[in-house]
Amino acid sequence: MVESQNGEAADGLPNELRTGFEKIDADHRELFARVDRVRAAARDEQLAAEVVRDHIAFFSAYAEHHFARELELMRKYAYPDQEVHLADHDEFRSAVAAFKETLTREQDPRAAAERIAAALEQWLEVHIADRDRALAAFLRDRAD
Ligand SMILES: [Fe+2]
Ligand SMILES: [Fe+2]
Repeated sequence: MVESQNGEAADGLPNELRTGFEKIDADHRELFARVDRVRAAARDEQLAAEVVRDHIAFFSAYAEHHFARELELMRKYAYPDQEVHLADHDEFRSAVAAFKETLTREQDPRAAAERIAAALEQWLEVHIADRDRALAAFLRDRAD
């Protein structure tokens, strides 16, 4: 995760990745924790491609749970930029499918795990900083 110039907030997310919505921020923390598990797996010298695949599945299962939560909020409050946001979630799904594909040909599962962890983390950081924070800013004006 990127280091915040202002330091990390008490909840473990750097300020630029906080949306201010507790449930969304909690989901994001969990997603970063799951990225860390992929990265930790890369340190195992005996790592098998099958295990990396399981880690990816573990990450994307939570991502789907989280996307469903965001979708529900977008629909409930008729979020105008829904299409762009959802296209981003779809792009993520395609990237995950591509990772699984790569793994079937990968000679070095540890290198693959490193690369995949970095890519997942980068996707999360860009998506949260850009799309999720925009959604949160909209919701702040609508919700309760
Ligand atoms: Fe999102
Ligand atoms: Fe999100």
